[in-house]
Amino acid sequence: MKFFLDTADLAEIEEAASWGAIAGVTTNPTLYAKIGGKLDDFHAHIKRICDIVDGPVSAESVAMTRDEIVRDGLELAEIAPNVVVKVPTMVEGLAATKELAKHGVPVNMTLCFSVPQAILAARAGARYISPFIGRFDDISDDGLAQVENIVESINNYDFTAHTVKGEQIEIIAASVRSANHVTQCALMGADIATVPFGVLKKMVQHPLTDAGLESFMKDWEKVQ
Ligand code: E4P
Repeated sequence: MKFFLDTADLAEIEEAASWGAIAGVTTNPTLYAKIGGKLDDFHAHIKRICDIVDGPVSAESVAMTRDEIVRDGLELAEIAPNVVVKVPTMVEGLAATKELAKHGVPVNMTLCFSVPQAILAARAGARYISPFIGRFDDISDDGLAQVENIVESINNYDFTAHTVKGEQIEIIAASVRSANHVTQCALMGADIATVPFGVLKKMVQHPLTDAGLESFMKDWEKVQ
């Protein structure tokens, strides 16, 4: 399983990259707004992330029609070779994904909440599919169960004829809110979990590690 960092914050990306912990980054308009990002600096900011991370960096199109999404996507793909265009799972998004895949541009289909949506994304040529966990939980549904269904159904078929360069689709478990979400996603075989920096820090921690370290340090004092 690989981990992506779900943030637009350069300090967080630099720190997580220094741990050897992340294989990519996902951003979205909310995450960019959160760091005080401005429209005219968006492409430059994505480039800064691409310069730090040696792996796919998802940059989202906010256009609503297929032609606009394709235009946006082609411009985003020009920023760096590791840019992945994030496109919402909707009719216009599917059509744009098909077109972008034809141009060799990898697409991460986002805001995916069901098996039919995921299969349509796969057939349109998505390279990554991002089912959301936390937002499902927020409406008292079972986000993990939906991700498990999506992982299983996508793995039932071979979609490589539809993807750019015949690569395997990877499922990115998104909207991850806890280390337990990561555990469950690993057990169900999700390819990637994209996690906020706060969750990544929690993933490193365990109370028994802390207790063990404390007792080792105390015992080491006795040796002095
Ligand atoms: C990732 O691609 C998504 O944009 C992100 O995980 C959404 O997370 P949220 O539901 O916590 O905003």
